[in-house]
Amino acid sequence: MLGKITLDHPQLFIQAFENSAIGMALIAASGELLKVNQALCCILGYEEHEMLKLKIFDITHPDDSENDLHIVHLLLDGKEHSYHSERRYIHKDGYEIWALMSVSLVRDEQQNPIFYISQIQDISNRRRTEEKLREGEDRYHRIVEESPDGVIILREERCLFINQTGVEMLRFKEKHDIVGRPIYDFVHPDDHHRLKQRDMHKDSIGPIEKRFIRMDGKVIDVELKTIPTIYQDKPAVHVIMRDISERKQTQDLIINSEKLTIAGQLAAGIAHEVRNPLTAIKGFFQMMEKDLKGNKMYFDVISSEINRIETILNELLVLARPQKVKYERKNIEVIINHVITLLKTQSNLNSIELIKSIEPNLPFIQCNENQLKQVFINFLKNSIEAMENGGRITIEIRRHLTEMIMIRIIDQGSGIPEHLLSKIGEPFFTTKEQGTGLGLMICKNIIEEHKGNLKIDSSSNGTKVEILLPLL
Ligand SMILES: Nc1ncnc2c1ncn2[C@@H]1O[C@H](COP(=O)(O)OP(=O)(O)O)[C@@H](O)[C@H]1O
Ligand SMILES: [Mg+2]
Repeated sequence: MLGKITLDHPQLFIQAFENSAIGMALIAASGELLKVNQALCCILGYEEHEMLKLKIFDITHPDDSENDLHIVHLLLDGKEHSYHSERRYIHKDGYEIWALMSVSLVRDEQQNPIFYISQIQDISNRRRTEEKLREGEDRYHRIVEESPDGVIILREERCLFINQTGVEMLRFKEKHDIVGRPIYDFVHPDDHHRLKQRDMHKDSIGPIEKRFIRMDGKVIDVELKTIPTIYQDKPAVHVIMRDISERKQTQDLIINSEKLTIAGQLAAGIAHEVRNPLTAIKGFFQMMEKDLKGNKMYFDVISSEINRIETILNELLVLARPQKVKYERKNIEVIINHVITLLKTQSNLNSIELIKSIEPNLPFIQCNENQLKQVFINFLKNSIEAMENGGRITIEIRRHLTEMIMIRIIDQGSGIPEHLLSKIGEPFFTTKEQGTGLGLMICKNIIEEHKGNLKIDSSSNGTKVEILLPLL
């Protein structure tokens, strides 16, 4: 077993031992404390003479002393020269002390084991800070997981973490479908103008809006806020995401319906204020036409202009109050002829030729004459307005299948650019300075009320409007 203590430089060793800032002990095989230094006494709260009466097991935390036998074997068998571990000791007053412990076996010249030398460093403070940090981190994770907003943690534009709300918002199945991927995989290409890394690490940014693309392909509006953070010991960016698609849609609806209400009120006002004087003007004018022998052409122009004012007022009236409409059996050819008469002057002025191609003996259709007139006037006016340099507008009417009538209005105008096609028919979408952007919307509504169908094809050579109306 262990032999007598012999030291090459006894004085030197003792001084180093005594003055070391680290707690030190020489321990016999039996566990007896052969020598302890001041630092160790200080750590554990004993006087030196008290400690020398104790064995190492008396000051080691019971949960950690089990491992000692294993360490002893490792050192005795020469498998390890020294051994380090973090373990708990018991202070004289009974509380735990966390320490970093290193132990090695000292042998004599014949390699016989003499004693163990153990160094003990108090790390209770560090452990407490670590524990607090861990608790803080756990709390952070819990808060993030429970958040009703999506949270992504980013480093260099890659997702290091996403919470469950975020996974669901983007319609993915699992977190690992997203973790590791660049955030821009999920952002709409038109919204890729990047936020500067440097700025995101310096300060909070937002809220800003970006469109995200969900796993199922749907584009959603997301409000983002970024906050600099530390994640796994390195700087990162905490991103809060909120799906505001619904909120935006409602906002748009409100704005549009507000616009519509205002337009409706205006329309009602105008219709009321202008219609009455107009009726008077029209009546007296017709009387004058009979009595006076003036220039017939002037009368015709005034008459058609009055009719135009009436048409515009009717258009506004449709907006102002949805009237109860009466459906009657009518001849579509008569309706079209009437509309063409109304627009003749305007088309002539613009050097536009109106060409009719109408199948003979068309069956009557069930419709509201005034509304259909309004539809054709709107489409023809749009065509005329699109043909600044004149040209031809063809109006084709024929039977389609057995139960429908097809009306086509084909112009040679400027056409509707492809990127605007989807906007056509939205209220207030207009490319004209004097336009209302209501014409097509009203047409679409009227055609739908007639259980019909509307198709618009357009290219730079012109526009083709195709209306299908059921016979019954
Ligand atoms: N035949 C057409 N040719 C070219 N553009 C058209 C045509 N019809 C409609 N458009 C486009 O659709 C927009 C909306 O039309 P509309 O709803 O009638 O409103 P407005 O005529 O008051 O602008 C027009 O401003 C125009 O840009
Ligand atoms: Mg129009």
